[in-house]
Formats: sequence, structure tokens, C-alpha cells
Amino acid sequence: MVDASKPLYVFYGSQTGCAESIAERLQSDAIERNINCPEVRPLDAFEKSGVLQAANATVVIVCSTTGNGDPPGNAEKFWRFIKKRAHPATLLANLEFTVLGLGDTNYDKFCHMGKSIFRRMKDLGAVSFYDLGCADEAMGLEDSVEPWIDGFWPALVGVISSSQPPAPSATAPTPVDAVVSLVQAMDTVSLAPSLPSLPYLTSFTNMFGTATQVPDTAKLPRLAEPSFAVSLLAPTDAIAATVAQVATDTLYSAASPFPATIAAARYLTTPASADRQVLALDLDISGSGATYVPGDVVGINCPNDAAVVDYLIQRLQLSAFQHHRVQIAPVASAKKKVAGMPFPPSATLRDIFSTQLDLAALPKKATLRGLAVHCLDADERARLFKEGAADFKRFVDDQYLSIPEVLALFQSCHPPLDVMLSLVPRLSPRYYSVASSPLVAPSHVTVAFTVVRYTQHGVPRTGLCSTWLHALAQPLLAGATSSATVPLFFKPATDFVLPEDPELPLVLVGPGTGVAPFVGFLQHRAAQNATTPMHLFFGCRRRDHDFLFQEELEQFAATGTLTSLAVAFSRAKEEKHYVQHDVVRDGAVVYRRLALENGRVYVCGDGMHMAKDVHEALVSVFETHGGLTRDEADARLKQLTAEMRYVRDIWC
Ligand code: 2AM
Repeated sequence: MVDASKPLYVFYGSQTGCAESIAERLQSDAIERNINCPEVRPLDAFEKSGVLQAANATVVIVCSTTGNGDPPGNAEKFWRFIKKRAHPATLLANLEFTVLGLGDTNYDKFCHMGKSIFRRMKDLGAVSFYDLGCADEAMGLEDSVEPWIDGFWPALVGVISSSQPPAPSATAPTPVDAVVSLVQAMDTVSLAPSLPSLPYLTSFTNMFGTATQVPDTAKLPRLAEPSFAVSLLAPTDAIAATVAQVATDTLYSAASPFPATIAAARYLTTPASADRQVLALDLDISGSGATYVPGDVVGINCPNDAAVVDYLIQRLQLSAFQHHRVQIAPVASAKKKVAGMPFPPSATLRDIFSTQLDLAALPKKATLRGLAVHCLDADERARLFKEGAADFKRFVDDQYLSIPEVLALFQSCHPPLDVMLSLVPRLSPRYYSVASSPLVAPSHVTVAFTVVRYTQHGVPRTGLCSTWLHALAQPLLAGATSSATVPLFFKPATDFVLPEDPELPLVLVGPGTGVAPFVGFLQHRAAQNATTPMHLFFGCRRRDHDFLFQEELEQFAATGTLTSLAVAFSRAKEEKHYVQHDVVRDGAVVYRRLALENGRVYVCGDGMHMAKDVHEALVSVFETHGGLTRDEADARLKQLTAEMRYVRDIWC
């Protein structure tokens, strides 16, 4: 049994909010486990938290790394404090602790802060009860965080358990206890047989029908209070599209995007019917007053699949209210936690489901457990609770189940609206690199993207935004016109920009859709009549299939805008041929441009493998042509990065 009086202190050092939300999740999981975990605090509150004065205390720290291995803003004071040499080696001898570091293997000093804090706390006498975790954003944070958290709880129970079982409690078992004991009573979970028949989203409504039971939600237990209060306003006839709100000034944002019409659409892959399609859209931004430069990205607000929205509205028995306007406000106790993008001040319930909630997102374990308590059927509740724990990977991750699909499988689950709004993550804009230059067509912007489709365990799946854009573009692809609009806004690039001096040489490495921003760069330089030496390394599978922007790139090479165009066809021969092979082959000129002529290298595309392989290729170019050792070559590339002359825009 756990000694509820012995508190668990949770601290975070967070720059973007990831570490903070993992810390909050640890707290809510701890509370579910009946562990006394009163507060989650930034690391800078460590000294004032009382933890140093406690007779003995258990501490968990989640900390990311920023910049060049630096602490995040709210952990700087803490790091300065524990780093002091004057501390006695017993300063933290009262603590049992562990650390989860967050980082990205694409950058140097992976998880540096997590590792440093772990080491320093041990030096100061703290005893670790569980191994340091190093979560890699390049792998997907959830994938690397989950296994660490799975091992964390058993290790924690070993530390925090009291030697004596606590006195029997006079109070009734909590709902959590009831759910836990149900789970423990279960031998097996037999969901697998029903999963292969999981319908594709569009057939959802027919396959599952509507819920039959009308739940008395007031009687349902709750694990935690919802974060939002919903008030229903007057009904309205019209569905007010929040996406159609147009700002009157030139500043557009996710909350206030510009509705751009699609001026043209074309496939960049052949044949048009191929399984893997890349689409280029030319978006008309005339009248917006918006300006952009190559390297910027376009944020696009896409709605959820209408069939899924319909299904969910029926499933939650909200059909009668779907056109009511609602007001959604954070409840007082949750204000800090839910700070972020507010819900629109006036929107219909249907708009909220369509444009504000990410219905396609994979639910987190805590979400499943949050849903579990709203299952009327005890067996379903136990099963869902279990899926939210040990079997999560098999159940949700492997199947790529979304929350509406979970509700389809657990028909007795009836979460109230405020709970849904608290559990379903917000729908974020999708970002695409600008593939054009305003010097060529100031009132147009081009984006290019793969139409995402794949099959997971026999169930066809599609990407939300690319599928929606593809559907909107259909009339244009068929030679007709369309008045459909795409709500967009620009996000300025920070580092991934052309140098102001148009004469500086550029080395551009962008396989696949990673070439998109370089099309913008090249258009821009051509319009400036620049005589810059520019070398493009592009990679694709086959010349006749996915040589994206072939005509434009060959034209740039023919007119001299491109000094050289190297295309690596990876599937033309038995052996793989990739961009990094061409970078090494053309190493002499790459070295000269970068090392001797003050040039810049830009890498764009897949961050899982390509960016690392290209980095290795650049190291070898500096070794071979600069006569440097590996360490010296590494140092040169670091220096180029610091000078913003080695810039990457990579995604996983
Ligand atoms: P492949 O699919 O044949 O493996 C755009 O996606 C191109 O990038 C494709 O030709 C793809 O090849 C290639 N690619 C895959 N892995 C890569 C890597 N590690 N480095 C460089 N290119 C890669």
C-alpha cells in the first residue's frame, strides 16, 4: 500500500510546455494512484518548495534542454543553485529522486540538462530510485516517454510505500479504487477480435448507429473535474463558420486566418492516380495585405472530417443542440492548466467539433482513463481503464484509434460535453513550407504536400489536412474552377531564410517535399537576377514518378539560376542512391562554397534519417577536403550552425 501522507514532489523545466504537461500528467496519474502529490512546480520554485527542509522526500523532475544544452527559462535559477561548488555533498541527502530529460537527437547535447541535473543531484547526496530517462523528440516524445513512465510507477511504489499497512480507512472506496479493483479482477481483455472490422471513418455512422442508452451523467463518477464549463446560448439558424472570420488588418493568425481561394492545383507526381501523390496548390491571397518571404511557412486550419463530426454529435446525443452557440470558459481551478488558445467567443457546437477539437488525434492513456469512468457498463469501464494502462500500445497506438473510434467501440461510454472538451486535444494548424516567391506573384503562395494515406492493421487511414485539401482541389484537378477557401496565415521563418546578400553561395539539400522551400528560394534569386552560385541536391524514388517540380528545377539549371542540380533516384537501381551520396561525390565544390566562400547550407525534409545522414556526409566532406579530423570537422559544422550558415528545417 502507498503511504498517502508521504508527498511526491513533481518539478519541471519547460520551454515549450511539453515537460510541463508531462509533469502535470504524472501528478494526475499519481492522484489516481492515491499518492499524495499536491503540486507541480517549475524547477525555479525548488528552493522555496520546502523540499530541502523535508525529513525525506521523493522528487521527480521532467526537464527539457534548450539552445546549446542550456536549461529552459524556468529552470535557470534552479540550475545556478544546484551547480554551486560551495554546497556540501549532503545537501540533497534527504531526497530520493529521478529525472526524465527531454531532448532531440537531431541536435547536439541531447538531453543535456536532464543528464546534468541527474548527475549533480547524485553528487549532492540524493539517491536515485529509478533510472534517468532520456526522451527523444526525433522518435516522437510519446514513444520514448511512455516506457519510462510505465517503469516509473512500480519503482516509485517501492520508495513511497510505508512499511506498515495504513489503518483501514473509514471512508468509502473512491471511484478510482472501484475501477482499479475491477481491472484487477479481470483476467483477459478480448477486444482484438472486433478490431479488424473497425470501419473506415466515412462508414462510421452507419456501422455503429446511435447510442441507445440515455445516461444519467450526474450519477457518474469523475476522476477529475473538467477543465471547461460550457454554457449554451441562443439557438441559431446559420452555422457560423469560425474559419470565415477575416481580420481587417494584415496580421493573420490561427485564431484569425485569411480565407484564400485555390487558384490552381496540380499533381507533382505521376501518374495522377498513383498511390503516393504529391499535390501543389497555388493559393490566392490577394486582398489580404499579407506578405511573406521564401522560407516562411503557411499555417492552414483544416476542419475535421464531416462524417466523424456527425457521428460524434449523434453519439454524444448533442444533435438537438448542434446549432446552438456555446460559450466555453476554463473553470477557475483549471485556468492555469488550460491556458493556451482560447475557444472562440461565439461558435456553434458543431463548429467547435469541426474546427476546434482534434478528433483524429491518438488519445493519451490519461484520456482513456478519463473516458473509462463514464462507461455505464462495468465491464466496458474495466476494459477501457485497462486499455488506458498496460495494454495502451496494443489497443490505441497499434490500431491508430481516435477518440470517436474508441467511443464507437465502447458504446456504454457517455462522457458529458465538458469532459469531452477537457479530454480531446485542440486542433492545431498544419504547417507547410512556402514554395514560391512573392517577387514572382505577390498575391499568390504555393504549397506542396504529400496526400497522406496508409493502412494500419488493414484499416485505411488518411492524413487530416492533406486529405481535406485534396478534396477541395478536386474540381481544379478536373479542369473546373472552385470557390472553396482555405483558412491560412503565415508564420515567419526564423533561421531558414535567404541571406540578405544575394551573392553568397548556397548549398541546398532537400529530398522529397523537402525541396519545396528551395523552389521559393530559387524563384526569388532568379527574380533578383542574382549570380549566386547555387547547388541543389534533390532526391526522389524514380524520375517518372516523383521528380517533384521537375520542369521548374530543370529550367533553373538551364538558365543558370542553379549552378548544379544533382538528383538522387533512390529506386532506379538495385542499390539505394540518396542525396548524401551526391553531397559526398560533389564534396570538393561543397567544401569550397562553405569553407572558403562564406556560403550557407540548408537542409530540409525528413529528420528521422535523412538529416542525420546528410550531417554525416558534411562531416566527411570537411574531413576529406579540409584535411580535418572528425572532431575538427564537427567543430566547424557547429560553428557554421552558430553563424546560421548551416540551417535545417526538418520534421519527423
Ligand atoms: P526511398 O523511399 O527509396 O528509401 C524522398 O522521400 C526520397 O528520400 C526518397 O527517394 C527516399 O528513398 C529518400 N530517402 C529515404 N531515406 C533517406 C535517407 N536516410 N537519406 C536520404 N534520402 C532518403
